Amino acid sequence: MIRIFLYFGLTLTQNFVYSENIYRTYNSTNELDWWQTGIIYQIYVRSFKDTNSDGIGDLNGVTQKVDYLKDLGIGAIWLSPIFESPQYDFGYDISNYRQIDKDYGTLADFDRLLDTYHKAGIKVLLDFVPNHSSHLHEWFLKSVKRIPPFTDYYVWEDPVITKEGRKPPNNWLSVFNSGTAWEWNEERNQYYFHQFLVEQPDFNYRSPMLVEEMKNVLRFWLDRGVDGFRFDAVNALFERADLVDEPESGDPESGPKDYDFLNHIYTLDQPETYEMVHQWREVIDSYKKSENDTTRMFMVECYSPVDKTMQYYGNDTALGAHFPFNFFFIKDFNRQSDAKQMRNVIASWLTNIPSGKWPNWVIGNHDNSRIASRLDPMLVDGVHMVQMLLPGTTVTYNADELGIEDTYIRWDQTIDNAGLNVGPRRYEKFSRDPERSPFPWDDSLNAGFSDGPKPWLPINPKFWRENMKQQTKYKSHLRTYKQLVSLRKSPAIMYGDLNVFILSKWVLGFSRSYLDHPTYFVVINLGSETERVNLLNARYTLPHILKVKVSSVNSGLVTGNLVRTENIILRPKAALVLTTSRNNEDADNF
Ligand code: NOJ
Repeated sequence: MIRIFLYFGLTLTQNFVYSENIYRTYNSTNELDWWQTGIIYQIYVRSFKDTNSDGIGDLNGVTQKVDYLKDLGIGAIWLSPIFESPQYDFGYDISNYRQIDKDYGTLADFDRLLDTYHKAGIKVLLDFVPNHSSHLHEWFLKSVKRIPPFTDYYVWEDPVITKEGRKPPNNWLSVFNSGTAWEWNEERNQYYFHQFLVEQPDFNYRSPMLVEEMKNVLRFWLDRGVDGFRFDAVNALFERADLVDEPESGDPESGPKDYDFLNHIYTLDQPETYEMVHQWREVIDSYKKSENDTTRMFMVECYSPVDKTMQYYGNDTALGAHFPFNFFFIKDFNRQSDAKQMRNVIASWLTNIPSGKWPNWVIGNHDNSRIASRLDPMLVDGVHMVQMLLPGTTVTYNADELGIEDTYIRWDQTIDNAGLNVGPRRYEKFSRDPERSPFPWDDSLNAGFSDGPKPWLPINPKFWRENMKQQTKYKSHLRTYKQLVSLRKSPAIMYGDLNVFILSKWVLGFSRSYLDHPTYFVVINLGSETERVNLLNARYTLPHILKVKVSSVNSGLVTGNLVRTENIILRPKAALVLTTSRNNEDADNF
């Protein structure tokens, strides 16, 4: 049993460094499981590797790149949706949950991928989209015609009839800023509800048949051998049955058609959603009949407030997900943030997590501007140090290990409907195309992504210099990432206590220590000036010399350099992992 509990030991040392023992982990008898030790690596399949020259990444491309991922040292891949889809939302609009989309390959290709990755010791997770299907799914087409049992598989409502004519049943809005979340269907003579695009009708989880149908989809893929799922948009699963209007948020930047115009208290995180999550966990756990069976994993996507998010972990009597994604580095941290804000992001997860549950850290995905663009390309190594060396699982979005930036996509090139919906004046804020641009493998045609005439999205113009192959040759983000992957295996990182220090307005530090294993200190300068810090102010028992274990590309230091504990110089955006160990017994030949 791993017991985790929180301890708020607040100390102000003599020079007023803020220091806090924020988290203690105790591992008694059981080993940590694969989903706790291994890194989960998100592959946006469409942009990863194209093997049939159509400009679109495919399953055979993922299979082809297994050696890269094995060498990177990650534990599992999570594939963005690969199922049959008309691609209005690039696979998050599924028209057949048991088929592979022709853009990506065939079921046989999938089986080969699964086998290849399993032989390489890497788990494979799928993206399960439970909230909605495509409007072209057979179930929806039959629901429109009221053919049982599909009649109530979706959320249908009668119109409100006013003097001006027919109106939607209430004021609920669509996430993609297109106004009402209700779409009129002439044939059925009713509105259907869609949290996302018009082409993504919401399922009705108050239909027991639908609930069972979706569990059978899970069983289909679990029987095929997948190791688990990322569950999409789970917080949107249920809406309040009495359809009350949502209150206005008062957000001055949102117009009446914008999603943020309302406060979504009746369309997100409803009590029945947590019960459904518990039922899914039971389906998933039923595949682990004995200790020898591999754990099948369950991750929840939800952009919800911290208290609502934590409930997706479940409790001791009703288990929920292994973890809901921790998006707080995406939501609450930006290029203005200082050390205190970084401390707050760390603390918001670790002080709110239910006892005995396992943390996780997400810094990027296919829905958000890349970490290098959101913060600063020079801060990528430092943020990776924080993400990978805090207690918990690391989730990496493909190519973030290279620290690449978003690709600028003009309005005339934009294809993400979330961008198209808001028009040419505002698309840059909402389009997700920039972070979905193809993976830069090398400096050849189309960055080695495709040898076809045109990739589905433009490649990043910096690909000739910033690509995977190039980064194997010199001190690079990729190399730092790999060093951190190795370092994660050490006992202090896996099992150790966490102490967080605010060393100056812009420098955050934290230490990980476990029994008599070497202790590690991470120091990161979030500011734009050179900073000097004295780690003795944080812990006066430290030796006067520390060794550099990992250094950011911009730090001016390399692994093995020695630094004076009372005078650590950090260039702007530079970061270091330092250790008290003076010998090399824990070094991994970096
Ligand atoms: C979250 C997914 O990550 C996003 O890409 C998608 O558009 C929505 N859910 C709707 O499925």
